[in-house]
Amino acid sequence: MHLRRKTQGKGNGRMSRFAFRRRAGRLVHVLRAHDAAELPSEHLFAPLEEERGSEVSRIEDLRKELLSSTATISDFHFGSGEAVASRVTRVAHECRYSSVPARWCRVLFRLVRKRRPATCIELGTNLGISSAYLAVGLKLNGAGRLFTIEGSPSLTECAKRNLTLLGLDDVQIVNSSFETGLPETLQEVGSVDFAFVDGHHDERATLDYAEMIMKASSKGAILVFDDIRWSPGMARAWKQIAADTSVTAVYDCYDIGAVVVREPGATGKEFTRIRA
Ligand SMILES: C[S@@+](CC[C@H](N)C(=O)[O-])C[C@H]1O[C@@H](n2cnc3c(N)ncnc32)[C@H](O)[C@@H]1O
Repeated sequence: MHLRRKTQGKGNGRMSRFAFRRRAGRLVHVLRAHDAAELPSEHLFAPLEEERGSEVSRIEDLRKELLSSTATISDFHFGSGEAVASRVTRVAHECRYSSVPARWCRVLFRLVRKRRPATCIELGTNLGISSAYLAVGLKLNGAGRLFTIEGSPSLTECAKRNLTLLGLDDVQIVNSSFETGLPETLQEVGSVDFAFVDGHHDERATLDYAEMIMKASSKGAILVFDDIRWSPGMARAWKQIAADTSVTAVYDCYDIGAVVVREPGATGKEFTRIRA
């Protein structure tokens, strides 16, 4: 399932680097219109000063280590949502087939740098790769908390170790099913400024999570959904999220989608399809 998800959902190797840059660069460009804060002028994927020799590059060093790791973990498998029978998997396999690729992680990082969220939540920690990008963005912002939810106890432990190695101990990793952990986390954070939903790719579940997060979102919050075309059900869920009246802008990047929650006084809806 993961293999299918990665090759179809994440599209690794299917899109040229040039096409990807155009698509992702456009996403950040159009989001600019929704925030008074100026975006850094550099190209989204040009190496940034703040990334050189910094935590961002250390995350990719860690990814390389994980990809060549021979360690195994034994756990419940939450692959597409429901916890199923115990399984043994290799850390390298998890990293290769579940972690968000670096190019999309950079988009998340830049969105966090731009939106400067006070509260950030993530559904689907896995080994902590995308969490690390979000956390480094918050660290560079000088403010903001990240709560990330993971159902697998072993992956939670791995993610904790990885985030500690990167000096990102402030991340709150919630070891829970999304069904239980999300309402509890929302209660704790009060209001959400940025969310990344990357797990349990089921139509009904995705709609339920989106509804809960939207209700708790601040105006102008950015909600990002991964694998929006992973299955016909996910495509329907994404369509419904994009159509929600509390959304003021929709950015459809084919693999991922982002919506901006309506700000006071905002009318209408901007829809941008970003296709290579
Ligand atoms: C695609 S991976 C997340 C990858 C991570 N965002 C990254 O890029 O590093 C999805 C994760 O969500 C977890 N998951 C899936 N469904 C879940 C559920 N219903 N409750 C809790 N965790 C779940 C899986 O165990 C898996 O680790």
